[in-house]
Amino acid sequence: MDTSQLLKLLDGSAQLEVDGQNMNLPVVKASRGPDGVFVSELHNDKYIMLDPGFFTTAQCESKITFIDGENSVLTYRGYPIEQLAQHSTFLEVAYLLLYGRLPSQDEFSNFKDEINHLTLVGEDFRSYLGTFPQNLRTMPTLSASICALENFTQKTSDIKDPKQVDLATKIIMAKVRTITSFIHRRRLNEPLLYPDYSRGYIDDFLRMCFAVPYERFDSNPLFVEALDKLLILQADHEQNCSTSVVRIVGSANASLYASVAAGVNALSGPLHGGANEAALLQLERIRQYVVEKNGTVRDFIENAKKDGKKLSGFGHRVYKSHDPRATIAKSYAKRIFESGTGSLDLFNIALELEDIATNDDYFKERRLYPNIDFWTGLIYHAIGFDSTMFTTIFALGRIPGWIANWREMHENPMSKIGRPRQIYTGETERDYIPIGER
Ligand code: CMC
Repeated sequence: MDTSQLLKLLDGSAQLEVDGQNMNLPVVKASRGPDGVFVSELHNDKYIMLDPGFFTTAQCESKITFIDGENSVLTYRGYPIEQLAQHSTFLEVAYLLLYGRLPSQDEFSNFKDEINHLTLVGEDFRSYLGTFPQNLRTMPTLSASICALENFTQKTSDIKDPKQVDLATKIIMAKVRTITSFIHRRRLNEPLLYPDYSRGYIDDFLRMCFAVPYERFDSNPLFVEALDKLLILQADHEQNCSTSVVRIVGSANASLYASVAAGVNALSGPLHGGANEAALLQLERIRQYVVEKNGTVRDFIENAKKDGKKLSGFGHRVYKSHDPRATIAKSYAKRIFESGTGSLDLFNIALELEDIATNDDYFKERRLYPNIDFWTGLIYHAIGFDSTMFTTIFALGRIPGWIANWREMHENPMSKIGRPRQIYTGETERDYIPIGER
């Protein structure tokens, strides 16, 4: 396309010139961040926009989350992440994402009650969960369980009925917490515990994961606070891989359950949510390298660069400066390790790795900083979770964001089924040759 150029015009539209031909394209004004050039009108097959990895392609307009990656800004519904992490709770942030505003006392108390009383899973569903082997893979189990939930709930699948959508929203948020605790216990061959309605969302999640049946369990308040904040940090992140998948699946009018399960599958990848597990395993590998081979953290980084390997927990498509979520997560990691819990040696390796990488020319030139996943795994590990559980907890946090995006898409009358195009570069037409003649 070297004969093309995009010109912005003063009247608020853009002009695309290709091979001497001019096309006027409407511009969609953003309230913050770059404006959008509306290119759907090019769909007459004369030209198709090609943007692998969607570096500059927006799939929607959204009022939910804003990121300014150059200046480390993240807001949910206009509220800075720093303020939400300091003053709010995960359930209040979930309400904010889903309904677009902070709740009143009564609204919030009703919302919490509804979620609380939906946390129990029925006996049939418990039997279904029991069919997974003890050495189950955590993310496929979570995804399969969310799909299966739809079979165990009545009148929550009609995506055109707002009441059913709202109930399905609360069912998924409530029961995924119970399912996640089951996944943790199943791998330990321990029984699933019933929820306790008198306890808070995070406190009871930790009890369901770690309590000995019929014994009193008091959660560490710092763990409850840290996990609550991590779920806030992970609650939404505009059009990332899993959220766009949720929108695309939902755009075919698939159910909320099917769409959220698809989001879980996308999140499982090590380039996305799976990076938290990969980052912790990387710290463990460095520890082993230091202890057994007398290596240094600097050597490890140099070797990774030499072998063209990426450091897990570094870099981000949008943040070309510090990830604001990482700053908050790191402060909780610090508090937890200073309180004497967790593997201090792993935390110290993380600090050294961060220090060396952020002062290294390779990382500086590419503007690669530790992302949120660099720190969350350390915290989950300190709380007592096995690394295979990390991404399921990320998913628990991301559910309100996925559903808020799904709902926003369905509330927008302009939404269309997601159907990307391609530029065909294969063989032109040729004749079939029978197998004996090839
Ligand atoms: N370590 C070393 N080099 C890296 C890293 C890294 N972690 N990330 C990117 N680079 C290099 C990459 O090799 C490329 O170098 P060059 O220009 O010489 O070819 C350059 O930086 C640009 O990277 P990219 O892969 O083209 O960037 P991207 O926007 O396509 O990928 C990313 C973003 C997050 C997938 C990538 O940075 C990565 O793979 N990071 C490691 C995995 C990770 O931590 N993922 C969690 C992301 S945050 C949570 C979430 O969104 O799920």
